[in-house]
Amino acid sequence: MKDDILTLLDLDVEDFDVLIDRSLELKRRYLAGIVDRPLQGKVLGLIFDKPSTRTRVSFEAAMVQLGGVPIFLNVEDTQLIRNEPIGDTGRVLSGYLDGIVVRTYSQDLLQELAAAADIPVINGLTDMYHPCQILSDLLTIKEKKGSIYELKIAWVGDGNNVAHSWLNAASILGLSLVMACPDGYQPNREVLARSLERAGNKIKVTDDPEEAVRDADVIYTDVWASMGQEGEHSFRRKIFKEYQVNASLVAKAKSDVMVMHCLPAHRGEEITADVLEGPNSVVWDQAENKLHMHKAILERLIK
Ligand code: CP
Ligand code: NVA
Repeated sequence: MKDDILTLLDLDVEDFDVLIDRSLELKRRYLAGIVDRPLQGKVLGLIFDKPSTRTRVSFEAAMVQLGGVPIFLNVEDTQLIRNEPIGDTGRVLSGYLDGIVVRTYSQDLLQELAAAADIPVINGLTDMYHPCQILSDLLTIKEKKGSIYELKIAWVGDGNNVAHSWLNAASILGLSLVMACPDGYQPNREVLARSLERAGNKIKVTDDPEEAVRDADVIYTDVWASMGQEGEHSFRRKIFKEYQVNASLVAKAKSDVMVMHCLPAHRGEEITADVLEGPNSVVWDQAENKLHMHKAILERLIK
């Protein structure tokens, strides 16, 4: 059977460990100038219905560096824009491609595509989840902290797609995760309930950012208005103003706390410029690591 990554719930603990260790190895080999071509002759489609810099380019570069070929498909240039069913699209593309990365709005649409396709389908972000982001973030955490376990991770901001994937990861891996979100902007109730059921008291949601970051090893934030929510931007700026990751909030965490952001960042909103560029920030290494994790994912699913 083909493997998909539609959410992190498609993985078990061993899958996480294998992907993280393999991406570290692939990074080491790449930086040493060693060329690996396990995907020679393979073709990856990327169907994107939302903008992307990091996810698109890192998947495309990963495919090229592994010897394969990426084909980028802007939804507007496909028959999807003229309402060809997503299932028909998945069946047809399965005859041409060896895997598909999808960035779209609806998780249901992604699942429909994956059900119809005979090739691996990878979620490159939906309104509900961003699984590959958290996989590469775990690589960064392991690289910098030596282990992904026994750490306190604090999420500060919106209970959004990235937050949902953190909940999935924490519940599978037994990570300690405290999320500070304003009332009404907490994670999706079902995602949260399923995570709490699995993780018990290792996961907590509060409305107090100071409580979340107390003794934290990692502070993670993301934009206040995600793609598709642009119309709520100015309203959300007011709701979230106490949830800014700034120097005074960072000072309440452990002194060696690592500040993470999946990017793109809005300086002066969810994070201040001094924190983003400061000594605790790892955001640029974090972005770079998407390349290495995406290689490990492609190698595992497509090879
Ligand atoms: N972090 C991330 O997914 O960035 P892009 O939107 O640029 O792909
Ligand atoms: N939550 C953000 C993540 C961007 C990578 C969004 O969906 O826009």
